[in-house]
Formats: sequence, C-alpha cells, structure tokens
Amino acid sequence: MTRPLPFTAPALLAPMEGVTEPCFRDLVLERNDSSVLGGAFTEFARVTAVALPRRTLRAHLGPRRHAAPVGLQLMGANVAAVAESARRAEELGAPLVDLNFGCPAKGAIRGCAGSALLDEPRKVEELVAACVRAVARVPISAKIRAGGEDDARLEQLARAVENGGASLLTVHCRTRKEAYRDTADWERLRRAVRAVSIPVCGNGGVRCHADLARLRAETGCTYVMVGRAALGDPWIFGGRTVERAEAARFLLAYAELLTAHHGASARMVSGRIKQLLHYWTAGDLCAGSGAAWRALDEVRLLERVREAAGVACDAAAG
Ligand SMILES: Cc1cc2nc3c(=O)[nH]c(=O)nc-3n(C[C@H](O)[C@H](O)[C@H](O)COP(=O)(O)O)c2cc1C
Repeated sequence: MTRPLPFTAPALLAPMEGVTEPCFRDLVLERNDSSVLGGAFTEFARVTAVALPRRTLRAHLGPRRHAAPVGLQLMGANVAAVAESARRAEELGAPLVDLNFGCPAKGAIRGCAGSALLDEPRKVEELVAACVRAVARVPISAKIRAGGEDDARLEQLARAVENGGASLLTVHCRTRKEAYRDTADWERLRRAVRAVSIPVCGNGGVRCHADLARLRAETGCTYVMVGRAALGDPWIFGGRTVERAEAARFLLAYAELLTAHHGASARMVSGRIKQLLHYWTAGDLCAGSGAAWRALDEVRLLERVREAAGVACDAAAG
C-alpha cells in the first residue's frame, strides 16, 4: 500500500549534488511559498558497504525545516546498508526517502549504483522493497532515468519501482547514455504514467515557469521536478520575474551562508557562485556576459555581485 506524499504543491526542486545542500536549498525554499514549491530533495547521500552514520544523514537534512518537505536521497547498491540508512533517515525526521537510480557518474557506475541499476530492474525492485520494509511510516520514492543505453526497459523499470512498494516514481526522461543532452523526450513520461498506477513525477527539460503546467498537461504526471532551470532562476516555481538587485542578493546570501555554515573559503564560495552563474538567468544579471563574470577572480566576483545587489563594498567588508 502506498503512503501519503508530504508535498505541498506539484512542483519540486530536483536533487543536485554539489548544489542542493542545505544553504542553497534553504534560500530557494525561503523564496518560494509552499503553495508553489511543493518540496525539495537533498543531494544524493552515497551508501557503500555499511549504513550511513547519523551525523552524515543529519548534515544532508540540514538544521532548518520549512513548510515544504525535503526528501533525503540515498544512492547505493548494498541492499542492507541502503535499507538501514533509510530507517535511520526516518528516525532523524526525513519526511520521505528517495532512491537514486539515475546518476551517470563513473564513480556510481563502478560501485554498481545509480544509473548502473537501470540494467537490473530486479535489483531496483529489491532495493525499493527493502527500504519500504525498513521504514515505519514515511513514503519511499525512486528516481530513475528512461533507461541505460536506450529506453526499451522504461515500463519494466517503472513497474519494478511500483512493485517494490514505492509511493512515487520520478522519471528523468533522458537515458544514461543521453546524460544531460539538451532535448528531453516527454513522450517517455507519458509512457511511464501509463505503465504504473502510483503518482509519477516528470523531470527533464523544464526551462521556464510555463513548462511546469505544460509538462503535467502533456504527460499526465502528477508532479514535476526542476533541475538546472532552478539553478538559473530560483523563482521559477512561482513564475515571479525578479529585478537585477534581488537576483544578486540571492547570490550574496548564498555566499554568506556558505561561509557561515561550512566555513567555506573564498575560493570555494566563488566556485559555487560560478557554478550557478553557468545557468543563471534571473534578473538578467549577467546579461550576455556570464563568461566574463565567471572569469573574474574570487575577490572581483564578489565585488561585482555586491555592486549588482546595491550593497556598498566597504559596508559589506566591515
Ligand atoms: C549539478 C547536478 C547535480 C545532480 N545531482 C543529482 C543527484 O544528486 N541526484 C539525482 O537524482 N539527480 C541529480 N542530478 C540530476 C537532476 O536531478 C535532474 O534529474 C536533471 O538535471 C534533469 O533535470 P533538468 O533537465 O531539469 O536539469 C543532478 C544534475 C545536475 C545538473
């Protein structure tokens, strides 16, 4: 029997390694009412031979709670270790545990985890079922890609997730082979919706606010998950157009949180900001000169962001 999902609205922020740690997530959740952003996910927490220690799970969940829930994502292939990690995550207050079957990184594949499991639907079902048994109340969800080399097994994979007892199936509509290519085939999402009776969350290729409704209307997905477009415009969920200064204040707040909570060095902070600038569209901040912003050194970059935010540099330094 599936368990009720905790989301407050159909649009969700995707799990993104190196990005959706608590600082970035909190800023996005703060800026979007729970009536437009229904929930978010941690970046994947990698499980190897033994269950993750509670302190690692706590760090992924972060100290703050918002009206919209944050699901904890696990990635691993060791059934007992992943299931015990799910149990601990529930104990620590995770409102949902998500399993990653989509990561195409070499490290994941070498460990036979993430998207490596797309070639083994039985193992997908086994992992989902073990986690469903391990937790007492919270829903288990699974995030798959449309397939490994091709999409021929999409329905089989979707059913494996459903048969394992998951309460939600998220489908990133690209295959492992397609990695992060520009085009995203939403017909695959429609196929997944037809294959299962649990709710489906569609993911892949959402570029603007209007795409959120369009994806659901065209595919029948109940939920829609936004990845990179939310890195470029954290306000995409509500569709509000922000001014340049407000956009810059987001980046500034991100820099401050990273420094305060992670003791991040100036170099690390500027690396994270540059990662966002790679996608950034909000407030037309870099207006065609994103590459030039990314070429700045860490001091100049923060100065530029402060200028755009309308924060005096001497005040910020003092
Ligand atoms: C930087 C980055 C990190 C990612 N890390 C994760 C992750 O930790 N777990 C996961 O399931 N997917 C991860 N993904 C995939 C996204 O969740 C999403 O499926 C993908 O970006 C497609 O959605 P989009 O077209 O809206 O970007 C990552 C994607 C990016 C760009």
